[in-house]
Amino acid sequence: MTILVTGGAGYIGSHTCVALVEAGYDLVVVDSFANSRPEALGRVQQITGREFPVYPVDLLDERGLDAVFEAQPVEAVIHFAALKAVGESVADPLRYYRNNVGGSISLFQTMERHGVTRLVFSSSATVYGAAEQMPLTEESPLGPVNPYGRTKWMVEQILRDQCAARPDWSVALLRYFNPVGAHASGRIGEDPSGVPNNLLPYVTQVAVGRLEQLTIHGDDYPTPDGTCIRDYVHVMDIAEGHVNALQHVLMTTGIEAFNLGTGRGSSVLEVVAAFEAATGIDIPRRVGPRRNGDAPVSYAGVDKAKQQLGWQAKRDLTEMCADAWRWQRENPQGYGV
Ligand code: NAD
Ligand code: WQD
Repeated sequence: MTILVTGGAGYIGSHTCVALVEAGYDLVVVDSFANSRPEALGRVQQITGREFPVYPVDLLDERGLDAVFEAQPVEAVIHFAALKAVGESVADPLRYYRNNVGGSISLFQTMERHGVTRLVFSSSATVYGAAEQMPLTEESPLGPVNPYGRTKWMVEQILRDQCAARPDWSVALLRYFNPVGAHASGRIGEDPSGVPNNLLPYVTQVAVGRLEQLTIHGDDYPTPDGTCIRDYVHVMDIAEGHVNALQHVLMTTGIEAFNLGTGRGSSVLEVVAAFEAATGIDIPRRVGPRRNGDAPVSYAGVDKAKQQLGWQAKRDLTEMCADAWRWQRENPQGYGV
């Protein structure tokens, strides 16, 4: 059974390709390489010992997509391809709406032309509004606060409308919390371009000497140690969640959202301490001002994914840090060198 993976060369996509091959699926990958390198897929093929077709196609190129769907029968689509930098989306909203919303519509129309009705979509915990109540459940109010988040929210709405109009469609909206870590082989991992925005890649680049010190964005939040709390979840747990979600959409119709997180929150200082304990490396740090738009606390309610997908995260923060570090240590320049 062949699964089309859009954005399969990216961070979460590449790890999910490994999990899909290990679960016995055939793959075909579409990626524009706007934020990734073909090398990532070469490494996936090394890890799994399997080759699969890779198309350097942009989702906005419907003709290019048609050719992919014509080249082999596609049973289902896992749709990762999107731009994901929050700051960039504020500076250049049209690029984000065109790529993430326009690209998704182009993909869904192509699926419709080819009779493909099964989809797993990469949404994000960022679709939730500022909430008092934790954990965030799939019923919590939505209200993204930046253009990137709104692209995810819009695609969720588009898919709800599509499923209402096409009762044979089946869609899982996966709302990831904070994916971190890397495959245990150290061969694939997160390779941000430029200075990382996210906490763990920043910490690993300090550890490897590419950056001087970590700036903690505020320690005066109403949390036990004053730093923000997030639900960090191992990227291989996320990858395996896609296999469960795929099995779910292959067996059902309709549309459901699922949180993918651990259900546990960790503060910035706890993450740094866990990284230092897992690796024996001291992370120089300073406390800076708060970063715009950061919620003090965010963690997932995970009951729905457990009950309906039979999935729960298995790996702890120590394993996330150890795996993130192995990848960075063995690939100090990411896929670059
Ligand atoms: P990534 O940037 O590493 O991967 C995205 C991939 O999509 C890249 O390989 C990029 O080249 C490709 N792509 C982008 N636009 C494309 C287009 N128009 N046509 C074809 N390919 C295109 O990002 P990631 O961290 O792997 O995220 C994967 C998905 O998960 C994204 O949709 C992202 O919004 C979502 N997500 C990520 C996180 C996170 O923290 N990493 C959290 C929640 C949700
Ligand atoms: C985590 C914590 C920072 C960097 C982002 C996106 C979100 C989602 C996942 C896609 C926060 C603090 C960070 C640093 C720090 N992506 N921090 N110093 O903000 O929860 O989520 O990635 O959907 O949309 O917004 O993750 O890793 O950026 O930050 O102190 O150098 O680490 O303030 O408290 P975030 P993050």
